This record gives sequence, structure tokens and C-alpha cells, in this order.
Amino acid sequence: MTVNDAAFMLALMNEPIYHQNIGDRGLRTVEDARKYIQEKIIAGAAKNGFGIGIVEILDLDNDDDEAPGEVVGICGLVKRDHLPAVDIAFAFAANHRGQGYATEAASAVLDYARLRLKLKTIAGVVNPTNKSSIKVLEKLGLKFKNKVTLPGEAAAIDYYERNL
Ligand SMILES: CC(C)(COP(=O)(O)OP(=O)(O)OC[C@H]1O[C@@H](n2cnc3c(N)ncnc32)[C@H](O)[C@@H]1OP(=O)(O)O)[C@@H](O)C(=O)NCCC(=O)NCCS
Repeated sequence: MTVNDAAFMLALMNEPIYHQNIGDRGLRTVEDARKYIQEKIIAGAAKNGFGIGIVEILDLDNDDDEAPGEVVGICGLVKRDHLPAVDIAFAFAANHRGQGYATEAASAVLDYARLRLKLKTIAGVVNPTNKSSIKVLEKLGLKFKNKVTLPGEAAAIDYYERNL
């Protein structure tokens, strides 16, 4: 992800379902989103050696290898101090949901976590009402372990985990 993805991130992170399931990070302008990408996502990736990436759909019929794909969502890994394992995160734009993209992107991220980062365990945290996200976590082989309350959050959410 780069600051050039700010307009997409502004729209994605202000979808009602994103506020409901993940939270409102208070981004209201493209400039807010650029700052968020720089200070949270890019800085976090530099610190941890992994982070959140943009998911693009490539047109395989296009011979131009440099042709940009269509940006449809985000997927990657998050390190939270209060969770015992790195967790997998994903969100897709409303018009690109329900087509298997989250499952496909997240399973590639799990391969990367296992083969390149050599992580032994992967976590997932999810609002218990978020049925599609739970389905994705279960399709990836994660299993419900316990409830957790993240700092600054009022409600407990569900903690899923699997060994890699
Ligand atoms: C969660 C999210 C990333 C899923 O993305 P997606 O690309 O639609 O996911 P997939 O198509 O790979 O898989 C979704 C699965 O959930 C199922 N599903 C969808 N709605 C469901 C519901 N209400 N109840 C049960 N299953 C449901 C789908 O049928 C599909 O399973 P299947 O492949 O067995 O049919 C997407 O809905 C999203 O971006 N939500 C907003 C952000 C978010 O909540 N992120 C996760 C935070 S933990």
C-alpha cells in the first residue's frame, strides 16, 4: 500500500459495514487517509516487517505486465501487543464482496506468513455478528478459542486461531 491508495482507503474505511465491524478511524478527507497510510500502515510495516496490502484484480489477458489491476480490497497481517499471535485482517469494497476474494487473498497471506515469515500461529479477531468474516476465518482453518476485549473497545469480540 502507498499513499496513492488514499482515495480507495477513505471510501473503504467509511463504508457503514467497516465502521460497524472494524471501527471508525475518523478519516474524513483524502489527506486524513494519506496520513493514516503513512503513519499507521507504512510505519507499522517498517517496524514489523509485514503489514496490510492492497488487493488488486489483474487482467490476465492484458499483455502489459505493468498494467495496474483493479483495486478491490485490503488484506494482510497485524501485530497487536495485547494478542498472543499476529492476526490476519481483510476488508473488501462493497461491490467486490461475495466473490471469494477475501478467502483467496487471505490464504495467500497465510502461505506468506508460514513460508516467508516463519510464523507458527495465526490469529483472527472478529465481531461475533460478522458472519461472512467468521466464514472466511473458518474456511482458512482458524477455530474459535475465546472472547477478548481489545483496549479502548467496550464489547468483547471473538478470538480465532490456528497453527501454521
Ligand atoms: C468479511 C469480508 C472481508 C468477506 O469478503 P468476501 O470477499 O465477501 O469473502 P468470501 O467471498 O471469500 O467469503 C465469504 C463467505 O461468507 C459467506 N457469507 C456471506 N454472508 C454470510 C452470512 N450472513 N452468514 C453466513 N455466511 C455468509 C459467503 O457465502 C462465503 O462463503 P462460501 O464461499 O462458503 O459461500 C467482507 O464482507 C468485508 O469486507 N466486510 C467488511 C469488513 C470486515 O468486516 N472485515 C473483517 C473484519 S474481522
